[in-house]
Amino acid sequence: MPNQSFDPVEPNSLQPEVIAAAVAEARAAFDAARTLDALKVARLAHAGDRSPLALANREIGALPPAAKAAAGQRLGSARAEISKALTARQAELEAERDARVLVEEAVDVTLPTDRRLTGARHPLTTVQERIADVFTAMGYEVAEGPEVEAEWYNFDALNIGVDHPSRSLSDTFFVESEDSGLDLRTQTSPVQARVMLARTPPIYVICPGKTFRTDELDATHTPVFHQVEGLAVDEGITMAHLRGTLDHLAEEMFGEGIITRLRPSYFPFTEPSAEVDLVCFVCRGESVGNPERPCRTCNSEGWIEWGGCGMVNPRVLVTCGIDPERYSGFAFGMGIERTVMFRDSAEDMRDMVEGDVRFTAAFGVES
Ligand code: DAH
Repeated sequence: MPNQSFDPVEPNSLQPEVIAAAVAEARAAFDAARTLDALKVARLAHAGDRSPLALANREIGALPPAAKAAAGQRLGSARAEISKALTARQAELEAERDARVLVEEAVDVTLPTDRRLTGARHPLTTVQERIADVFTAMGYEVAEGPEVEAEWYNFDALNIGVDHPSRSLSDTFFVESEDSGLDLRTQTSPVQARVMLARTPPIYVICPGKTFRTDELDATHTPVFHQVEGLAVDEGITMAHLRGTLDHLAEEMFGEGIITRLRPSYFPFTEPSAEVDLVCFVCRGESVGNPERPCRTCNSEGWIEWGGCGMVNPRVLVTCGIDPERYSGFAFGMGIERTVMFRDSAEDMRDMVEGDVRFTAAFGVES
């Protein structure tokens, strides 16, 4: 029997082939790790405290001094090799992870950002602004007046007599009592009187705004509605200027070929007065006398009422301190709701006041 204690044999774990195999195994395990987590597991197995080479290290102490150095060196360089391979693989996997995170977590700031509806202004507002644009382009100014108006401006100054039916409670909202002298303006026409009293001709103004009448809300009426008032006072103003101005407005609002018609009428504050009709935007007049093609929009009349107009009554000029011998003027008042209805084929007035976005969204976001 050989004396084992005096003929030390290197334990198996320190054999060069075994160490080389452990290194190869470690390399293979690191290469096989596809993620940093997997690499961590491989690190513990092949470079941790309980890895084969760490355990082999413990054997060195039992070797005779002469063998210690060689075994220690062999093991040391093997462990260094494993550590190098581990660091390299760690760097590779970290780079992969960083590249993936950059792609996965990238934010494309040009993508549409949300599913929330973008707020938009109401079509009544945008149409009023468009009308204002048409007139400011012709040199008009935009004037404003109060919605709670003195009865004197709303009626008296405009030559509307005390017994005129529009002054009655059934037409006008009075503030407090009927004799308070204050009402919610029933028309934008009082702004005419305010402007004429405040300025001297030439006067070219429009006034879009809210108006109020005691109507029930239905498909064609609303107690709060909007008008745009127009007023031009200058030397030599004639009905032809009025006509041309209205035609221009109609074309700007409804497109080329929309023609207007002035129909004789009566307003206390204009003389002569007329209703302004628009050719029907649906049948363009072709339903008239044509039972084959009736038109519901205009009742086959071919025309739709848009507003009122006329030459400013000289009595109104005098009341407002303007010399009717020197100056003349025209005025008009159009319904904004009607304008939206014609422009965009909105059929029910209630849609305009109910605030349902399904109605307004169809108009898009107009700036
Ligand atoms: N103010 C009138 C209305 O509400 C409309 C109107 C008619 C305005 C003739 C005018 C005008 O300026 O000249 O029915």
